[in-house]
Amino acid sequence: MRRVIVLAALLAAGCSRDDSAERRARLGPNPGFAQLMRVADAEAGARRFGQCAACHSIAAGGQDRNGPNLHGVYGAKIGQNSARFGYTEALQAQAGTWDAARLDRWLADPRGMVPGTSMAFPGVRDPLDRADLIAYLKTQS
Ligand code: HEC
Repeated sequence: MRRVIVLAALLAAGCSRDDSAERRARLGPNPGFAQLMRVADAEAGARRFGQCAACHSIAAGGQDRNGPNLHGVYGAKIGQNSARFGYTEALQAQAGTWDAARLDRWLADPRGMVPGTSMAFPGVRDPLDRADLIAYLKTQS
């Protein structure tokens, strides 16, 4: 039975190389954000980016889709990464740049952080999944 559950978890993760279960076990319950970022895995994040790719390209010079191209978004000014994209005023009114902490809030709950945003995405519940995504965005910046 245990085996079946592990296998199902691996299948759900979409890749047998995913070691997020081990990383989670090492982190223990309620890890802090700094701890999560320390074990974040950009390769796992690249696979998780599949859920963003319907709306976002990430290659340098990639087309905007439903959402803006995200190449270089880590460290960029909020609401300005793609010069051609029609951002909402709500997002453009945000001060500052996309650092790890802001990306974490955004990816957890886009509409919670920026009411009125057009990013129609419910958010990524799992903190380690978000950390992996952020690590990946960083490698593409
Ligand atoms: C259904 C389409 C959709 C999905 C799925 C989606 N996004 Fe977005 N995203 C958008 C839109 C639209 C915007 C622009 C929001 C605005 O202007 O208010 C945006 C904006 C962003 C921005 C800010 C860009 C900037 O220049 O400031 C980041 C970062 C981002 N998305 C990351 C992600 C990540 C990572 C995922 C996957 C976990 C994701 N998005 C999933 C549509 C989407």
